[in-house]
Amino acid sequence: MKIAVLPGDGIGKEVTAEAVKVLHAVLGKNTALELIDAPIGAAGIEAAGDPLPAKTSEIARKADAILFGAAGMPGDEVIPYAMRPGASLLRLRKELGLFANFRPAFLFPELIGASTLRPEIVEGLDLLIMRELTGDVYFGEPRGISTTASGEREGYNTMRYSESEIERIAHVAFRTARQRRHKVCSVDKANVLETMQLWREVVTNVGKQYPDVELTHMFVDAAAMMLMRAPKQFDVIVTGNIFGDILSDEAAMLTGSIGMLPSASLALDHKGLYEPVHGTAPDIAGRNLANPLASILSMGMMLRYSFNQADNADRVQRAVRAVLADGYRTGDIAQPGCKRVGTSEMGDAVVAALGR
Ligand code: IPM
Ligand code: MG
Repeated sequence: MKIAVLPGDGIGKEVTAEAVKVLHAVLGKNTALELIDAPIGAAGIEAAGDPLPAKTSEIARKADAILFGAAGMPGDEVIPYAMRPGASLLRLRKELGLFANFRPAFLFPELIGASTLRPEIVEGLDLLIMRELTGDVYFGEPRGISTTASGEREGYNTMRYSESEIERIAHVAFRTARQRRHKVCSVDKANVLETMQLWREVVTNVGKQYPDVELTHMFVDAAAMMLMRAPKQFDVIVTGNIFGDILSDEAAMLTGSIGMLPSASLALDHKGLYEPVHGTAPDIAGRNLANPLASILSMGMMLRYSFNQADNADRVQRAVRAVLADGYRTGDIAQPGCKRVGTSEMGDAVVAALGR
């Protein structure tokens, strides 16, 4: 198993270290495991003058899977795109063709009190946002800031999706729904945007090949509302890059903390990049305060999707469940009477729970 480890910046470093710790414990000594560390984000600039150093890119390309932490630094949106730490991840997604982003929002019963929503709204929640990750307004050209004839500046980005891009993500969504509750809700803005009109048409056509999967459509504004009002109606939500970005943070809150949410970004060849949905959290970075569970669960997704080790992936999932049941909590999910722990203690607790 050849894994590129790209911890990046901020709490990315701390949480990735815990995921690696748990990975070693899960596999024991019998698996040939090759971990290759490489810098990305601000760490990439420091090491090689580029947020996505060529060397890092190559290591990622040659690996079977990539374990990613977080990249970026406060205020980096003013830095030009190519040199922006936060954009290194976007470049990597594009370069490796990681178009299918799985973002499950699963509520561990132990955390029901950590959600800001009433227990009866979120109890039993188990949905998956399937976000298209290499197209849309994130990558569409033309883009930029230019000066108009009247001398004022104007910013523009372009929402674009080709039929083939929509088709391939739709297929992944329908196939995934077949392993779940056989429901796909496609989220778009077809009432306003031509790109989304095409989205709806193509998803509808692909859906005809999956008669056993129920397909519904929802406008993104209504979907945002429904996620708060009645989130349990959803199984798989398939949507474009920008809507998926926004809805997945919203869905994260249903589960209590964004610190709990793992994700997988897959290419056609099953290569995958695995990362927590959360970012660098500079306010708590370097203080052993971050919740490593999203990173640990992302590593579990790696075992499942890139290495076909469902058993080990289940063990990781069960161990996380066990530490929560034992009352271990980092600050983001703390409850009265819990056992408050730091990042590394949480990792240790998961390792200890693996054997049970
Ligand atoms: C995410 C993040 C990224 C995105 C940022 C860090 C570029 O918010 O993975 O959801 O917008 O895709
Ligand atoms: Mg986001």
